[in-house]
Amino acid sequence: MLHDPNRVYVFDTTLRDGEQVPGCQLATPEKIEIARALEALGVDVIEAGFPISSPGDFQSVVELSKAVSEPIICALTRANKGDIDSAVAALQYAKRPRIHTGIGASDMHIQYKFNSTREKILERAVEAVKYAKQFVEDIEFYAEDAGRADNIFLAQMVEAVIAAGATVVNIPDTNGYCLPDQYGSKILYLKENVKNIDQAIISVHCHNDLGVATANSLAGLINGARQVECTINGIGERAGNTALEEVTMILKTHHALNLHTNINTKHFSEISAMVSRMMRMPVQPNKAIIGQNAFAHSSGIHQDGFLKHRENYEIMNPEDVGVNSSDIILTARSGRHALKHHLERLGYEIDRINLDQVYDRFLILADEKKTISDDDILSLMSDGSEDPYK
Ligand code: KIV
Ligand code: ZN
Repeated sequence: MLHDPNRVYVFDTTLRDGEQVPGCQLATPEKIEIARALEALGVDVIEAGFPISSPGDFQSVVELSKAVSEPIICALTRANKGDIDSAVAALQYAKRPRIHTGIGASDMHIQYKFNSTREKILERAVEAVKYAKQFVEDIEFYAEDAGRADNIFLAQMVEAVIAAGATVVNIPDTNGYCLPDQYGSKILYLKENVKNIDQAIISVHCHNDLGVATANSLAGLINGARQVECTINGIGERAGNTALEEVTMILKTHHALNLHTNINTKHFSEISAMVSRMMRMPVQPNKAIIGQNAFAHSSGIHQDGFLKHRENYEIMNPEDVGVNSSDIILTARSGRHALKHHLERLGYEIDRINLDQVYDRFLILADEKKTISDDDILSLMSDGSEDPYK
């Protein structure tokens, strides 16, 4: 089969990088439920855990490997034999196993985390890939803290691990330091300076410390990466990871990018709620795509424009992300058009209503109550009168 150059592979790490968040730990049955939902969503890779880290994590990787058949199941390791042996054992039932091994690439990590040198780190990286390759064909290598690494050394490392057998090279912005143009240029630099780069897929893995994880991932994809690592609701260490729903909706909405995934975006609302509930991690109301206000309109000017034509104020269709309909929230900022919309929706014959009069009463109530519910409208219409049309 010919490889589609515009296909972006989605690597979900909700159950590994996401699950590292304090308070978000899951039991194996919960992980299996999320993994099945990720499979239905159409992700290409599920990072199931870090098997050496605990017996529970090891067992989860075993059980997820049995429960899910379509996506690749990936296990994380550091660049040492013990971690890799543990991952190989945990992946024994996976139909499509992948080992994700790696080591620090920035001078900061090399000096202060490993107390080592670039030469020795390079050797360890190559050894780890060669060792893992004896057991599993699909090897992803991560160059930790690549965001702050020197590009010349990073290119040397990437070239060496591809030569050793890596099929995917992950360029993490571990600390969420890069700006989109810097991260995009880094990916382009690797594309242009690593001789064997076409023998592997470049993967982007961005953290959100400066709030630009999604923008950085997009910059990487535009510059040639073809795998994006992300989590549902953007959960992850510190400020989180690239949000799966954001990056995939960007690709779906901007056709000119000519990049596509296998994601069935209609599942977003459901899987977002599932992950939020199981991980006890509420989604902020104004979160892009899946926040409860993402398709809610509350100012009078926007409501009026929206009611004239949905696309005046919506760039996506709520149904495309599994939300039944947009919301017109009635507040003291709403105009007559929005009130009329709700009165009609509740079955009132608008021609028989003195809308100005009802609107004046509505404003008084809205100032008092902040938001107006259907019940409020019903009582407003019957207030002080037997005939709602008076
Ligand atoms: O952020 C990071 O560098 C990671 C690696 C372990 C891939 O999560
Ligand atoms: Zn990470």
